[in-house]
Amino acid sequence: MGRLVVVSNRVGPLKDTGRAGGLAVALVDALMETGGLWFGWSGNVSEEGSFGQMKTQKTRSVQMAQVDMTQADYDAFYAGYANRTLWPVLHYRLDLADFDHRFEQGYRYVNDRFATRLKPLIQDDDVIWVHDYHFLTFAASLRAMDVNNPLAFFLHIPFPAPEILAALPNAAGIVRAMLSYDLVGFQTERDASNFRRFVIEELGGVDEGDGHVRVNGRVVIAKAYAIGIDADAFSKFPMTPEARKNMTRLEKLLGGRQQIIGVDRIDYSKGLPERFKAFERLLEDYPENRGRVSMMQVAPPSRSELDAYIDIRRALDELTGHVNGRFSDLDWTPIRFMTRSFPRRVLAGIYRVSRVGLVTPLRDGMNLVAKEYVAAQRAEDPGVLVLSRFAGAAERMPEAVIVNPHSAEEVAAGLQRAITMPLEERRNRWQIMFDRLCQEDAAAWSRSIMEDVKTIRRN
Ligand code: UDP
Ligand code: G6P
Repeated sequence: MGRLVVVSNRVGPLKDTGRAGGLAVALVDALMETGGLWFGWSGNVSEEGSFGQMKTQKTRSVQMAQVDMTQADYDAFYAGYANRTLWPVLHYRLDLADFDHRFEQGYRYVNDRFATRLKPLIQDDDVIWVHDYHFLTFAASLRAMDVNNPLAFFLHIPFPAPEILAALPNAAGIVRAMLSYDLVGFQTERDASNFRRFVIEELGGVDEGDGHVRVNGRVVIAKAYAIGIDADAFSKFPMTPEARKNMTRLEKLLGGRQQIIGVDRIDYSKGLPERFKAFERLLEDYPENRGRVSMMQVAPPSRSELDAYIDIRRALDELTGHVNGRFSDLDWTPIRFMTRSFPRRVLAGIYRVSRVGLVTPLRDGMNLVAKEYVAAQRAEDPGVLVLSRFAGAAERMPEAVIVNPHSAEEVAAGLQRAITMPLEERRNRWQIMFDRLCQEDAAAWSRSIMEDVKTIRRN
């Protein structure tokens, strides 16, 4: 196999800086293994935009190449179609979606422009691997420029049922563009089957079995490849100096009390208000936890210029004030809500001192925090993961305490179960999950996709 060329909107950083987002974290783990080129947006808006100079940088075996966007591109592509239209629709939130045909135009334009900039960097035997909802139409742009390399795509977020996706104006056009890829990968079996169902029901595709669909005379692979973490490396993070220093601080502060930890970008898909209400319900229904259990929520702000994100942040500030006002005592504050990020090494230490990992998205492609929480535990005395059934991670983590995040009562009962779970049960559940995480890790994820890429026959 030739060189790996990875395309994603965010590129890097390769270092553990604490910039939140599962995609970049997973790709660092995968690319570090194979080496190659990583191309995408610089994160900067400039007047020249994608016509400006390409910024390149090489770190070990990974070459990075990035271009800017203009303000107009940013508004229509990133703040528009990607995050006001596709993100809500793909997370089943039609109520929050903004449909404006200019967004789609801007989106296709940026996909074309980025493809134009990438093309001169492509070598004949490169495998091009494109990521996430920002670049659904990127393969169509490359094919229109006669690029004939194998093209694989991975969607890091959910792919909804056709009944939901049909609400997106020109959904058929977008999915048809996705069929220019040779392989389209998803986080879960459900996402992959939703996609195949759309292709079959709306575009006249034919199911060829084993995740292959035939449409317009071509066969496209559309399968699930659940993303993994580097579980072995992550399990060692709590021993690093950064983690240890912070663990000591935190343990002192906790003074023997138990901690529930949540770590999520501030995003309506993460079910944060529902989570805060469920914690309040825990204190109501199981009052023995008052003064004894606290919840820490690490919540880095995300896409903060978008209305839906401003609203969710305001709601969380209010809920924190409400719960803390109602239950705080002289020496105990129920919720610690921190709108900042931490490097993953520090998070690993926080996970290890937390008795419960609370991960309750209303929808999530995978959710790496769920996996990282498990990887960071001590085998002798592991904490318990309470996990939403709507996180992709739940498909391969049935040993977690699985809950419906819409039910405060059910989440509170799940928390109580986790807090009171006997050591032996905790160990048994943890061991199975940890072994699976080590087997189905980040390297296995990219390897299994590349195995299928090798079966692609282009004519
Ligand atoms: N993360 C981080 N620092 C933070 C919060 C999160 O490095 O303060 C990382 C976290 O460790 C995980 C990723 O960001 O690897 C979040 O991925 P996830 O799949 O849970 O959610 P996403 O943000 O992609 O929706
Ligand atoms: C999720 C998406 C990524 C995205 C990240 C952070 O992980 O799947 O594609 O990069 O969130 O969001 P942002 O809009 O800041 O890139």
